[in-house]
Amino acid sequence: MAKMLIKNIKGLFQAGEDFDSFKKGEEMNNGNIIENAFLAIEDDKIIAFGSMEDWGGITDWRDLEVIDAEGKFVLPTFCDSHTHAVFAATREGEFEDRIKGLSYEEIALKGGGILNSARQLQKMDEDTLFEEALERIHNLAKYGTGAIEIKSGYGLSVEGELKMLRVIKRLKEASPMEIKATFLGAHAFPKEYKENQEGYMDLMINEMLPQISEEGLADYIDCFCERNYFTLDQMTRLMQEGAKYNLIPKVHVNQFSIMGGIKAAVDHGALSVDHLEELNDDDIEALKGSKTMPTFLPGCSFFLSIPYGKAKQVLAADLPFALASDFNPGSAPSGNMQLLTSIACTKMNLTPIETLNATTINTAYAMGISETHGTISVGKKANIMITKPISSLARIPYSFGENNIETVILNGKTFLT
Ligand code: NIG
Ligand code: FE
Repeated sequence: MAKMLIKNIKGLFQAGEDFDSFKKGEEMNNGNIIENAFLAIEDDKIIAFGSMEDWGGITDWRDLEVIDAEGKFVLPTFCDSHTHAVFAATREGEFEDRIKGLSYEEIALKGGGILNSARQLQKMDEDTLFEEALERIHNLAKYGTGAIEIKSGYGLSVEGELKMLRVIKRLKEASPMEIKATFLGAHAFPKEYKENQEGYMDLMINEMLPQISEEGLADYIDCFCERNYFTLDQMTRLMQEGAKYNLIPKVHVNQFSIMGGIKAAVDHGALSVDHLEELNDDDIEALKGSKTMPTFLPGCSFFLSIPYGKAKQVLAADLPFALASDFNPGSAPSGNMQLLTSIACTKMNLTPIETLNATTINTAYAMGISETHGTISVGKKANIMITKPISSLARIPYSFGENNIETVILNGKTFLT
C-alpha cells in the first residue's frame, strides 16, 4: 500500500468535508484554508488532513513517503471543464490576420476558424492525433491541471467526429488525468452542408449519436448556439436527441449574441452554460435555482479582444460561476490555468480566492466529478498540487505567466516534481 504524508504545509486550500458540490455568491471568497497543515494519502485517495497541532505523528514508517512542504501551499489540482484540446494544427496565420484587422467572425465566414481546424484534422491519422494530444495535456499538468474536459467538434463528419472521440477515449486510458468527453458535432456546419442544414442535423442525430452511444464515446453533448452557427431550435433539438442517449448538455452560448440559449439549456438540465461574454437579466433569472454552472472563458475574451463575462453580476445574484480555459487553436491557445486566474483577477475584477474556487471546486462540478475531485476531502482522489515557496496564494494570479507549481500528484502518485 503506497502511503504519502505531506507535512508543515503553509496553507492547505479548499480543505473540508461538508462542502456542497459548488460555492456561490459570497462563499466564493472563502478558501477554506487550514494553516500549518498536514495531508495524508493512501494509494490514490486522501485519508486525512488537518492542522499540524492535531497530527498524531508517525508510528509506522514502512513504505511511507514524507514530503516537507514548509513555506508551500497545497491545493486540489485545477479542473479544466471546457477545452478543445484534441486538434491537428495551430492557427497562427489567423492570429496574424486578426492583428491586421480581420475579426474572428470575418475569418470564419471566409472558411477559416473551426472549418480550417476541421480540414487539418481530416488529414491527420488517429495515432498521431492521440500522441500529440497526450503530450499537449500532460504539458498542462505541469501547470497544475489534473482533470480536463475535451470536446470533439473538429471532425464535422461521421468519421471525423468518431476519430476525435476515440482519441479522447484513448487519452482517458493512457493518462492519470481525469478526462471527460463531450460530443460537439454541432460546432459549425461543414461546407458541404452549408445549404442543407437539415441534412447535417440528420447526420448527427441518425448516424453520429447512435454510433457514439454504441461505443460509449461521450459523457456530454455540446452545441455552439450562435448567429452563423446553430439556432436555438437546432440546439434544443440536439439536447432532446442527446437525452435519449443519456448525454447531459454542456453548451456554448452567449459568446457574441444572446439567443435565449441559457434558458433553454437550463430547462434541459444542462450541467454548464459556457462563454457568456454577453449576459442579460433574463439569463441571470434563468440561472437562479438551477443546477447549471455558468462558466466564463476569460482566455477567449483576452485572445479575441471581446468582452469579459460579468462574473461580479453573477456573484451579486448569489449564483456560482466557474472559469475554464477553452483551450483551442483558434480562440484560446493556452490551457495554463494559473495564467487564467491572472486574467480573471485583472480583467474581471475578481479576488484571487474567487478565481481559485472557480477553477477547482466549481469546475469539478461543471464536469460532473465533484464526488471525487475539486476539494481536499477524505475519500476524494489524491489529485493535488504543491506550490513553490510563496508568500500567499495571491501569488498565483499575481505573477502572471509564471509557473508557481512545483509538484503535481495525480491519483496519489507524483506526476512531476
Ligand atoms: O469555444 N466558440 C466556439 N468554439 C471555440 C472556438 C473554436 C475555434 O475557433 O477553433 C470556442 O471559442
Ligand atoms: Fe469552446
